[in-house]
Amino acid sequence: LLFKDPSKPPVVFHYFPFFGSTVDYGMDPYAFFFKNQKKYGDVFTFILLGNKMTVALGPKGNDFILNGKLSEVNAEEAYTGLTTPVFGEGVVYDVPNHVLMEQKKFIKVGLTVEAFRSYVPLIVEQVTNYFNSHKDFAGKSGSVSLLKVIPEITVFTASRTLQGKEVRDALDGSFADLYHDLDNGFTPVNFMFPWFPFPHNFARDRAHKKIARTYMDLVEKRRANPDSKSENDMIWNLMNKTYKDGRPLTDKEIAHIMIALLMAGQHTSMSTSCWAILHLAEQPDLVEALYQEQKKVFGDNLEPLSYEKLADCTLMNFVIKETLRIHPPLHSIMRKVKSPMRFPDTNIVVPEGHYVLAAPGCSAIDAQYFPNPLKFDPYRWEGRAPEEEGEKVDFGFGVISKGTASPYLPFGAGRHRCVGEQFANVQLGTILATFVREFTLRLPNGQVSVPPPDYNSMIASPTAPAAVEWVRRK
Ligand code: HEM
Repeated sequence: LLFKDPSKPPVVFHYFPFFGSTVDYGMDPYAFFFKNQKKYGDVFTFILLGNKMTVALGPKGNDFILNGKLSEVNAEEAYTGLTTPVFGEGVVYDVPNHVLMEQKKFIKVGLTVEAFRSYVPLIVEQVTNYFNSHKDFAGKSGSVSLLKVIPEITVFTASRTLQGKEVRDALDGSFADLYHDLDNGFTPVNFMFPWFPFPHNFARDRAHKKIARTYMDLVEKRRANPDSKSENDMIWNLMNKTYKDGRPLTDKEIAHIMIALLMAGQHTSMSTSCWAILHLAEQPDLVEALYQEQKKVFGDNLEPLSYEKLADCTLMNFVIKETLRIHPPLHSIMRKVKSPMRFPDTNIVVPEGHYVLAAPGCSAIDAQYFPNPLKFDPYRWEGRAPEEEGEKVDFGFGVISKGTASPYLPFGAGRHRCVGEQFANVQLGTILATFVREFTLRLPNGQVSVPPPDYNSMIASPTAPAAVEWVRRK
């Protein structure tokens, strides 16, 4: 015990060999990270079901993992067990990295300003229809569980825009159940035991086949009738895309990319909307300030939302930023280590075979970078110097900043950085503005703060029911 290899990261103390820190980490990852950061420093290893997970915290840790070289870190080996059965074969983490980079470029080409302009009214229409027809929003005032309504609002808005009208309409029918069966495959138990035949995985696999078939039929129908193109959805964008080697994207790959986008966008946006609305309900003054901002930007008569003017809603954009600071949807970003990695300015070397785990959500709530870090204060972003952007790199899906050593990286950094950020901002901004125009909000009587996160799902949403009380403005 006295002769521990000084170059290896310290190992978090545990009693049982295989289980290690699984329960401690699983119950509250942030509490676990902070506790061990205090004890061992920014870099330490813990055991997760027999796997050696090496955490690297702080801005330097974020950079170490997210900007790791392709020869050092590998994302597909860390994620494929969870994602491939849900998304399908031939896409994202079921392909070598250079193919993913090309697929991300195909996706990005469809996320244009022109597309976003056309999406804003479509999102408003979906949200307004929901408010006008859903029983939980009937009448002049009421109480609603956000975890019940927000997942529907986000899936309806994302599908109406990115996925197209046909997919949105299908969600009013049997597609909804299939979607839920598929979604149930996206859980931490599948991440930890990808080989285990849980009963829910049979439903997942059946749903995947049917949903992929639906997309393929749709693509075929559109190919037969190219003149029917009237909108800018992602399926039209992906049709006729070709890899650099000349091979066209197959209908099956289009189907699987569409499923991947649905999943990538749904959980992240859903959780972010819930948290934002809970914080607004917690601070009714903020709802009022946002309402006044709507009047300032869109006039006293509140003319319809538009993509251009959403950018002028400064406070609302700060609310989104602040929500993603305290509640980034992904608490753990993982890679498999392929060759030994030395942590800069130390003797610590992470051996091949470990997983590395980045948690930029930790530095985002570290008082060193954000004073009074747990206070939800969108105004803190006012006048804050922009993050240092770092070197510009093209990984194959457009030039991005490496986001070097930043404490705030809710969309990740490096070659795996999110391509959905702008879409998410359009979707979240439009949903929030529509809420604020329609309702005043507050937390239920006797509840003084937002509920704690629930770490039982892949993405840390608020604990159910996440209720808010609403009053219609008119
Ligand atoms: C990657 C966050 C919305 C598509 C990522 C990553 C993060 C992230 C942290 C990096 C994962 C890693 O390095 O392992 C978010 C947040 C969102 C959001 C916070 C909303 C608030 C979306 C949406 C889409 C999307 C709406 C699709 C339209 C993707 C894709 C990747 C990605 C394709 C690339 C995966 C890779 O290269 O490995 N996202 N995301 N995301 N996201 Fe998002």
